[in-house]
Amino acid sequence: MHDIKELISQMTLEEKASLCSGKDFWNLKGIERLGIPSIMVTDGPHGLRKKAGDSSDQIGLSDSVPATCFPTASALAATWNRELIYQVGEALGEECREEKVGVILGPGANIKRSPLCGRNFEYFSEDPYLSGEIAKSHINGVQSQGVGTSLKHYAVNNQEYRRMTIDAIVDERALREIYLAGYEIAVKESQPWTMMCAYNKVNGTYCSEHKYLMDDVLRGEWGYKGLVVTDWGAMNERVKGLTAGIELEMPGVNNGNNAMIVAAVTSGELDEAVLDQAVERILKMIFKTEKTLSEDYQYNRQSHHALARRVAGEGAVLLKNENNVLPLPKTAKIALLGQFAKTPRYQGAGSSLMNPTQLDNIYDEMTKLVGEENITFAPGYHAKQNEIDSELIREAVGTAQKADAVVVCVGLPDIFEVEGLDRGHMRLPQSHNALIEAVAKAHSKVVVVLSNGSPVEMPWANQIQAILEGYLGGQAGAGAIADILFGEVNPSGKLAETFPIKLEDNPSYHYFPGGPNTIEYRESIYVGYRYFDTAAADVLFPFGHGLSYTTFEYSDLQLSQRTLTDNETLTVTLTVKNTGDVAGKRSSNSTCVM
Ligand code: BGC
Repeated sequence: MHDIKELISQMTLEEKASLCSGKDFWNLKGIERLGIPSIMVTDGPHGLRKKAGDSSDQIGLSDSVPATCFPTASALAATWNRELIYQVGEALGEECREEKVGVILGPGANIKRSPLCGRNFEYFSEDPYLSGEIAKSHINGVQSQGVGTSLKHYAVNNQEYRRMTIDAIVDERALREIYLAGYEIAVKESQPWTMMCAYNKVNGTYCSEHKYLMDDVLRGEWGYKGLVVTDWGAMNERVKGLTAGIELEMPGVNNGNNAMIVAAVTSGELDEAVLDQAVERILKMIFKTEKTLSEDYQYNRQSHHALARRVAGEGAVLLKNENNVLPLPKTAKIALLGQFAKTPRYQGAGSSLMNPTQLDNIYDEMTKLVGEENITFAPGYHAKQNEIDSELIREAVGTAQKADAVVVCVGLPDIFEVEGLDRGHMRLPQSHNALIEAVAKAHSKVVVVLSNGSPVEMPWANQIQAILEGYLGGQAGAGAIADILFGEVNPSGKLAETFPIKLEDNPSYHYFPGGPNTIEYRESIYVGYRYFDTAAADVLFPFGHGLSYTTFEYSDLQLSQRTLTDNETLTVTLTVKNTGDVAGKRSSNSTCVM
């Protein structure tokens, strides 16, 4: 045990100030003479992105150590499965242990206010309860390994457009009930070792100096015990930030902020006790990682890959299955169309981009299950192009006509969906839509498999027979798709977000992304299904939707009481019986979120 107060009393003012920012992009500072180690914190959230040792790429985007790439947050949330996400967290924690990483930067619990947010793939849901429950499970899993997390991006960071400066104007009720509620659950029930403050402003004040959000709500009301770190480069005015409760500035850059802290204490502008408290929180966090980082550890790559496959299978959502076209018979001759079947889109682009330990593709995984002779492939489009290639489509249609059933793999290439940019529309690439439409005219058993991080318009939805939303399924996602297509796994994912028919239907449509200075949240609490339900508006697929290969019967519905006062809890019980031929879910002991 370290006597932290005693350690602080031995530090110079300069040393204390210096601990309040990083040593470089990914490491915190240590003080050797006092036995304070320098620890590493790095991305996250759905896999570890640790810059490779001798790489000159300081961010580590192009060169990071291999790690397991799990499905991104959209798919994790669609499992609605706390235990499973806890296991993902555990696995991430184990990988950090092997790589000697003290804190993995994630998860992200921002609300999906608009389907256009470029980072929706990294967020869980439009619903704060579901977001909070999944976030807390992820955090508890990671932290069970003696590794910290960083719950991000606190708060009201719901778009990428002008994310560094935009001022989110949101009313108190929506702020509390929609935008903060998920963080509240996760903070109270998992105490993330760090919280990451967002770049943007909320109601006129940068998050990095928002006393109300940090001190009053986070610490005062929710009882948060950890430290707050800035998003990378989010610090505005350092002294104000420290006073508001933001302890750590990242990344470490020589911007004169430490000298400002020293000057403010010396001039009496900043009470030294505020600095001492920040240093205390930072040291507590650093020492929490001490035991873990001192032990060698090796995780099992195969079992993490298998877990990633299982999660992708539970997170995939069967949106449509007319005439039970799925599961496909294993003896069927199948036309597998779309370049994504061989060049998968499986993870998000931006700071979460990582280097997987292995990468499966749908073509190989399907042939493993039913043999090469049963699968004929045609690319149908070029993986990175929006433009239609008529020759490729003609070839794909020809392939489809010779098959018993057709599987078309489409989705969003990463240039369509990336951190730092919002989407301008909700459409798939023209080349993908054109392929589906051409094949739909040529065959009566067409299954569309989607790889995307957030909803897309599906103008062809009525022309084809089945739709499987695979989300960004991670390195083992392809195997999970093959499992579901052939009935090895029963689809049990349910949407954690509404799929609107068209972009204009969204409640935030007229007020997104706003700018240049402010974005007004005029739809208030009517986010996602809260709006569509209230307005009785049609959607393509509702929140909670997801089909199964089996059927269920519900009976004996009972409520614990007929009337409720504000603080009482209603218990609803019912009997659910699986009346079909296959198991409803592989993991029978899992409890779902609602
Ligand atoms: C992102 C964070 C990320 C950090 C470090 C920022 O730009 O918003 O989510 O953890 O960079 O890569």
